[in-house]
Amino acid sequence: MRRRRLKRRSFLVRSSAVLGTGCLATRPGGATAPKERPRAKHPPHPVVVASANGFPHCTARVMEELLGGSEVADAVVAGVTLVEDDPSDHSVGLGGLPNEEGVVELDASVMDGATGLAGAVAALRGIKNPSQVALRVMRYTDHALLVGEGARRFARAHGFPEQELLTDEARKIWLYWKSTLSDQDDWLPPDPAELPPRAKEMFGITGTINCDAVDGQGNLAGVTTTSGLAFKIPGRVGDSPLVGAGLFVDNEVGAAGSTGRGEANIVTCGSATVVEGLRQGKAPVDACLMACRRIVEATRVARLRRPDGRPDFDVKFYAVDKGGRFGGAAIWSGGRFAVHDGKGNRLEDMAYLFES
Ligand code: GLY
Repeated sequence: MRRRRLKRRSFLVRSSAVLGTGCLATRPGGATAPKERPRAKHPPHPVVVASANGFPHCTARVMEELLGGSEVADAVVAGVTLVEDDPSDHSVGLGGLPNEEGVVELDASVMDGATGLAGAVAALRGIKNPSQVALRVMRYTDHALLVGEGARRFARAHGFPEQELLTDEARKIWLYWKSTLSDQDDWLPPDPAELPPRAKEMFGITGTINCDAVDGQGNLAGVTTTSGLAFKIPGRVGDSPLVGAGLFVDNEVGAAGSTGRGEANIVTCGSATVVEGLRQGKAPVDACLMACRRIVEATRVARLRRPDGRPDFDVKFYAVDKGGRFGGAAIWSGGRFAVHDGKGNRLEDMAYLFES
C-alpha cells in the first residue's frame, strides 16, 4: 500500500455550515482527497500511533513488543506504562495533577480487537498504572469498568502496590492554583522561585496518553490513560475510561482514541465515531476530522464557545486502521502525534479544523 506524502503543502478547504463558523478542514498531505482503496487485511509491518507525549519512548516500546510477538493489548499497555511511570508528565499516572483536594485520581481503558473485550478503571487512587489495572479488569473479570474504591481494591487484590502519586512538583502547582482561586480566602501565592516552570499553563489541562496499534496479522488494540482534568471535582470521570468516547477498537476496521476535553468527547462518542468513519472507508485522518466536526456541531452553549462561535477547547483524535493506514486530527492547529511504522519512529503534524 502506498502512503500519502506527509509533507505540509497547500491545504484542502471544505465549506461547512457548522455553526456558521466556516469550518476549515486542513490536512497534511495534499490539496485533494486521495482515492479510497479497499482496506487491506493486514499491514506490511506493525504500526503504532500515539499522542505526542508517547514519542519517542512509548511508541518505540510498543513496536519492540510487537516485533517480539507480544499481543497487541499487552504491547500498548507496556508502552503507556513508561509514561505513567514518568513523574515529569503531569497528565498521566505518577506526577499527574490532582483533583481540587490535592488527590490524584486516574482513569484508563484498554480495548482488544481480537477478543472484542474492553476493561477500564475510573477515579482510581494510589495506583500508578491504571492501564495495567484496566487490562486486568478486561482479562480477569466479567466487567468492563470498575470505579473508585472498588477499582482500588481490585488493583490491590491483583498485587498492585499503593503509593502517594502526588509528586512535590505537582503539589506545588496545585497549591499555586488554590492560591489563585480567591483573594477572599487565606491561601496566599507561593514564592515564585519555588514554582515549577510553566506552572500556570497547567491549569485546566486535560492531557492524556492514547496509544493504538495494529500488528503484522491485522490485530488491533488501544489504550488511553490519564490523570484527567487538572483540579477537577473529586469523582469527575473524563472520556479516557469510557469505551466509545476516549477509545474504541473494532478488529475488522481499526482503532482510535483521543486526548483533550473529555466532556465534549463523551457527548459525541468521539472514538466510536472515528471507527465508524473508517468502516465507511474513510482514511484515518478524515475519520478523525469527522469526529472533530461532530464536536464543533455539538458545542452549542455560549460558555464553551469563543466570540466567533468556535469551541474554546481542543480535542484530538488518533487512529490506525486494519491495513496500517494512520492519521490524527484536532479541532485546533498546532498539534502533533507520534507514529512508528516500518519507516521509523517520529512525530507528524495533525490535521485540524481551525487555525489557532
Ligand atoms: N481527555 C482526558 C479527560 O478529559 O479527562
